[in-house]
Amino acid sequence: MDYDFSNKVVLVTGASSGIGESTALLFAKLGAKLSLVGRNEANLRAVAAECEKQKGVKPLAIVADLGTDEGIQKTAKETLAHFKRLDVLVNNAAIGARTSILHETDMKIFDDVFRIDVRGVYLLTKLLAPALIETKGNIINVSSIAGTVVAVGSLPYGMAKAALDHFTRLVSLELAPKGVRVNTVSPGLTITNFLKNIIHCSDDEYKQWLDIAKKNVPMGDPCVGEDIARMIVHIASEHSRLVTGTNVEVDGGLRFNNLSNTLVTHVK
Ligand SMILES: NC(=O)c1ccc[n+]([C@@H]2O[C@H](COP(=O)([O-])OP(=O)(O)OC[C@H]3O[C@@H](n4cnc5c(N)ncnc54)[C@H](OP(=O)(O)O)[C@@H]3O)[C@@H](O)[C@H]2O)c1
Repeated sequence: MDYDFSNKVVLVTGASSGIGESTALLFAKLGAKLSLVGRNEANLRAVAAECEKQKGVKPLAIVADLGTDEGIQKTAKETLAHFKRLDVLVNNAAIGARTSILHETDMKIFDDVFRIDVRGVYLLTKLLAPALIETKGNIINVSSIAGTVVAVGSLPYGMAKAALDHFTRLVSLELAPKGVRVNTVSPGLTITNFLKNIIHCSDDEYKQWLDIAKKNVPMGDPCVGEDIARMIVHIASEHSRLVTGTNVEVDGGLRFNNLSNTLVTHVK
């Protein structure tokens, strides 16, 4: 199967690192015109430069905080002003949180997680849906197996991802008659800075944690960003023309194991 995104405009949020970076690079290799969003300007510009090297197409880099209405409005406005169209929206940016038990939850973390991971996606999708209807484009929401697996340690992030999963289903039904597909890709354990940032540990401790966590993945291997990027590209492509409202897990089977072992037992 071949994938061709030349003349397609693809917006990837959280493109400044990890899964978003891998996704941006893969779309760039397939000829897409990219709008890339993140807060860390140096990282974002480095990813944009790497994307440009693939097929010589210069991405639009938008430095914006998707936890604010201004940042979201700026993202939608600048993308449409620059490209005059949008074919694929990848809602990938998110922050994580790990709460060992309910009564220890810091409500600021709860608010931040819902503001960025749920409200941010909702508003950006709302603003860009008309453009996607015009092109009969599609939306990929990057969720997590934490949205479906019940595990101690995944509050409040797991709740936010569960909300995102249902957002996909609801919006897919609403937009299907307009020719727009909406899907979720849910990564399992993936080697990026995401978990390291949540665990707040030294490099050595993180390596030790990862060695133990990997043992819970039935297929024995954690994902890397490109594993998730390939699924995103496949679902965004014409090869998936009737796929909508789904949640595709890319996790080596981790969702079938007790995630609490991964999230809590080995993290002190
Ligand atoms: N890694 C995993 O094991 C894993 C597992 C399941 C699901 N996921 C999901 O995969 C997605 C990508 O995560 P990742 O692993 O690639 O993590 P990552 O390397 O930490 O990347 C997160 C990205 O989101 C961006 N971001 C976060 N808050 C933002 C905000 N307020 N405004 C704009 N951008 C913001 C970051 O940009 P800046 O750094 O520039 O702020 C960064 O580019 C997330 O939705 C995450 O929930 C990851």
